[in-house]
Amino acid sequence: MSATITPRGASPEAIRSHYDVANEFYELWLDPTLCYSCALWEGDEPDSALETAQLRKLDFHANQIRAKGAARVLDVGCGWGSLVRRLVETHGVQHATGLTLSDAQAAWSAQRPDPRVDIRIESWVDHQPESPYDGIISVGAFEHFAKAEFSDEQRIAAYRAFFQRCHQWLKPGGRLSLQTISYGNVDVATVKEQPDTKFFFDVIFPESVLPTISDIITASNGLFEVELLRNDREHYGRTCQIWYRTLVARKAEALKIVDQETYNRFVRYLKLSAFVFNASYTGLLRIGFRKWDESRMG
Ligand SMILES: C[S@@+](CC[C@H](N)C(=O)[O-])C[C@H]1O[C@@H](n2cnc3c(N)ncnc32)[C@H](O)[C@@H]1O
Repeated sequence: MSATITPRGASPEAIRSHYDVANEFYELWLDPTLCYSCALWEGDEPDSALETAQLRKLDFHANQIRAKGAARVLDVGCGWGSLVRRLVETHGVQHATGLTLSDAQAAWSAQRPDPRVDIRIESWVDHQPESPYDGIISVGAFEHFAKAEFSDEQRIAAYRAFFQRCHQWLKPGGRLSLQTISYGNVDVATVKEQPDTKFFFDVIFPESVLPTISDIITASNGLFEVELLRNDREHYGRTCQIWYRTLVARKAEALKIVDQETYNRFVRYLKLSAFVFNASYTGLLRIGFRKWDESRMG
């Protein structure tokens, strides 16, 4: 497939408008791993266990693709690099490639170099691996792979292009572990018109949109088998609530880094995010996929 005909989601400019606010700002209210996606909670852990719950999430995805000792793993949308580092440091992965569109995130990782890790400022649309991957993970990036103005058909085509690339890049029987926010079981057409939804996609995450579960199943049909599917929306409600409370508690420090308008915008977004997950307007999907290929047909 030619890169020129692959529908692109959020542009690098749109991504940078959110993720390049300032690394020190995100360091204030994320946990020390700088994971910027839903944690994986267990039992009645206290809120102070956020870092533990984030590391558990990283290990969940690593285990889902059977990363232990793997030669090559790809992380699509690697953020500040928590997963690629965890893969090489804890799971014995020999080489991990991370893709991001954020200059600030890549600069942060560049200050922590590791010969086993390759962080690239590159869209998956343009990625051309030199050899196949044992496994692929993508956490919290799929939300940026289609634009709000796409028709239903264009949106699913964009997602299908992603699954086709992953299928093409994986070794036979290789696995893809995907984590993404989705719409819940709601009337999407109505919810899309609500002012809070417009705030999310006009202001906070421009040029982005949420998938539905059925979008993902349709787009991956014939390419991947679903091995596992869980909706952990309460886990994200809790994660966002902790981020919100931490940012509010560190307001004075935040205002030394960003202006009042940016602070207000993030406070509103984090509070609203906690609400929409807890009220089930949105879901948090973790999906384990295994590549369909001829080697599996017997
Ligand atoms: C919410 S962050 C998640 C980061 C990380 N996975 C985590 O869990 O902390 C979304 C990431 O997706 C990346 N991203 C968005 N669109 C992308 C694309 N087309 N290709 C590669 N990365 C992309 C952003 O640059 C950012 O690093």
